[in-house]
Amino acid sequence: MTTRAGLACRNDQRAGRYSAKIPTPYCNEGVREPCCLSPFQKGGRGDSVSHEDGVERHDLLFKEAHVTKTKTYRIVVLPGDGIGPEIVEAALDVLETVQAVAGGFSLACEFHRAGAGCYRDTGEAITPEALEAFRNADATLKGPVGLPDVRKPDGTEAGLLGGILRVGFDLYANVRPIRLYPNAATPLAGCEPDGIDYVIVRENTEGLYLSRGLGLVTPHAATDSLLLTAHGCERIARFAFQTALKKQRGAPEDGRKRVTLVDKSNVLRSFAFFRRIFLKVAEEFPEVATECIYVDAAAAALVSHPQHFQVIVTENLFGDILSDLGGATIGGLGMCPSANIGERRAYFEPIHGSAPDIAGRRLANPVSQIMSAAMMLKYLGESKAAAMLEGALWRVYAQRRIPFKAGGAVEGGASIVAKAVKLALRKGNKVQAA
Ligand code: NAD
Ligand code: IPM
Ligand code: MN
Repeated sequence: MTTRAGLACRNDQRAGRYSAKIPTPYCNEGVREPCCLSPFQKGGRGDSVSHEDGVERHDLLFKEAHVTKTKTYRIVVLPGDGIGPEIVEAALDVLETVQAVAGGFSLACEFHRAGAGCYRDTGEAITPEALEAFRNADATLKGPVGLPDVRKPDGTEAGLLGGILRVGFDLYANVRPIRLYPNAATPLAGCEPDGIDYVIVRENTEGLYLSRGLGLVTPHAATDSLLLTAHGCERIARFAFQTALKKQRGAPEDGRKRVTLVDKSNVLRSFAFFRRIFLKVAEEFPEVATECIYVDAAAAALVSHPQHFQVIVTENLFGDILSDLGGATIGGLGMCPSANIGERRAYFEPIHGSAPDIAGRRLANPVSQIMSAAMMLKYLGESKAAAMLEGALWRVYAQRRIPFKAGGAVEGGASIVAKAVKLALRKGNKVQAA
């Protein structure tokens, strides 16, 4: 087991490659001491956590032995640019506490550089060592990357990782939950907590983005082209229906499980093609309501009627734009986590960017990164720990523990939020134990 000194090197991005393990206090590796068991594990009481915690009950349906082995997961951490290191540090801080209160697993974190700063210093957006580590990791926690002034000669930004990680590793599903927390600063009138609760499933490997780096430019014209494949449409449609089935809550409006395809098939053949495939896949899921709407109307509906949606599936660029729009309805981009998922690998990151306008000013909301960490725990199979973390976040919001400024920034920044969430985790654990 490594020590806290090991953790201290977390911030030292410039040290290049180094690793630290988040220790599980009170536990040795291997067989856990009974004293480490959380009350969840002792009596299978996890499913007694109520909806007031903001936790979906199905996440808590787990069965664990009285004494279990501590699993160690290999996690690659890419702190990124701008506010990345601040919010990643907060998420790791919180993960350390989750690990302590949930028990049963530990995270061996390996830190690597990637992003625009890395590109500026090395000429590469990500180092070969980082790529190799990513390939071999159980999961990767990534901060936002990119700096608007670090650009390639073609005028696009250097140091972004979508082409390398999403396309390179075929992480075809970009899962972006949009959920309204209590007291979050929604600009929409009359919205209750959970009155907005849908997931955008963004196709992550093709669409207009497949043209990245390949567009044609002459002095008089420029073109990028959109490509959709039958395989790509079919698998993302199926992923969306499976997401609808797995998600316990239906659409807030009527409790229905509903998958909405957002396209532009009134104009473009590629989207008519996507729609045909989507409707064919829908036949496999008769228990899920199916609908198709155009992207312009969808943008309006996400503001005027967000309670209608449960799962939205869409093309890459549309998903990019609509998820930021959704973020604005739930209190800002700092509320928005995401997962990039393929058959064998996955990484987890906020949907937002490196926010250079607030970097280093103690204003960043790390909730997006903390929720991304919760999604990572769920992906790893640590559903109980993920649920504890989501519950703690929900309580922190319900009890107005975070000093939000207008627009979603936090007075005092990421460490203030981490502190509040850690406290809620420890208190929550005591309540459960009582
Ligand atoms: P941005 O998402 O970084 O910021 C947009 C606005 O939201 C800014 O006002 C910012 O201060 C605010 N904001 C974002 N996250 C916040 C948080 N956690 N807490 C409080 N406020 C927050 O978008 P941008 O300015 O267009 O892009 C900046 C850089 O990030 C660019 O280089 C862009 O390419 C890159 N980018 C990277 C990713 C990624 O790594 N996944 C995603 C989007 C943008
Ligand atoms: C996102 C980002 C990226 C995207 C950029 C940084 C390439 O905006 O993850 O939403 O457009 O996919
Ligand atoms: Mn985006």
